[in-house]
Amino acid sequence: MTPHIVVLGSTNMDLVAYVERAPRRGETVTGRAFRTFPGGKGANQAVAAARAGATVSMIGAVGTDGFGGRLRAALEHSGVDTDLLRTVEGASGTAHIVVDDEGGNAIVVVPGANAALTGLTHGDEALITCADLLLLQLETPLDGVLAAARYARDHGVRTVLTPAPAQSLPPELLDAVDLLVANEHEAAALTGATDPRTAAHKLLDQVPDVVVTLGAEGCLYATRGAEPVTVPAPRVTAVDTTGAGDTFVGALAAALGEGRPLPSALAWASSAAALSVGRPGAAASMPYRTEIDAEAEARA
Ligand code: RIB
Ligand code: NA
Repeated sequence: MTPHIVVLGSTNMDLVAYVERAPRRGETVTGRAFRTFPGGKGANQAVAAARAGATVSMIGAVGTDGFGGRLRAALEHSGVDTDLLRTVEGASGTAHIVVDDEGGNAIVVVPGANAALTGLTHGDEALITCADLLLLQLETPLDGVLAAARYARDHGVRTVLTPAPAQSLPPELLDAVDLLVANEHEAAALTGATDPRTAAHKLLDQVPDVVVTLGAEGCLYATRGAEPVTVPAPRVTAVDTTGAGDTFVGALAAALGEGRPLPSALAWASSAAALSVGRPGAAASMPYRTEIDAEAEARA
């Protein structure tokens, strides 16, 4: 059965400058090229899950500027249901991104319309009640994220939180989450522990399943009562890592929604993320299910 995934989160227009290396403070560098891409952690996870084969609905907000319509259309183009994507007066969210020649990035996010997502409407609640999984990140106001996590918990809906951008969090939020997928910086910001194993161990006090992503090294999976395991990532040449984490979470959610156990879902999701790293843009670089299957098979 096709799983139904609800994503509550951000939509941003990504304004990307490609440079040899990022400028330091007070410095100007000349870029190679400029491109705009639909992005935002919420929208990226929604597109990744839809392309990976899930039925996906997005709860979010875009602005009345020229970007809003393009962001909505990009979601619909990947098959994401946007019935509960609000349009609010003013600017859409934007992400100002510098991608260097090694494929690494530095990002400034200006929330714009995303700031309107402070709570749930009755429509949002009805949608979440029927979902197999709820995906949350931290580019929309914490009040709305917390309300959604609690509502999902009360209605038996499994919740996956990506604690990005990195910050410390109120314990009430982590207590309402079923699976946490954090990168090393985010895991450190939550726990104060820079070692991923130590951080994962601490996080298990609050969340039953924890994944710490390790970039090119793959990821660490920890669950209560068992030794953590490392799931390796395929070797790839990085072109643009923007949205790789979101690709990983979206594909992971699609696989979990189909009933795959976590370790096998993680391996499949890391194939999806590897494919996205080799291509420019966030959502634009995300693979479809057949590509992920082929990549995962080639590794097996
Ligand atoms: O996770 C990647 C995303 O973060 C980008 O698409 C950008 O919009 C920023 O929000
Ligand atoms: Na990419």
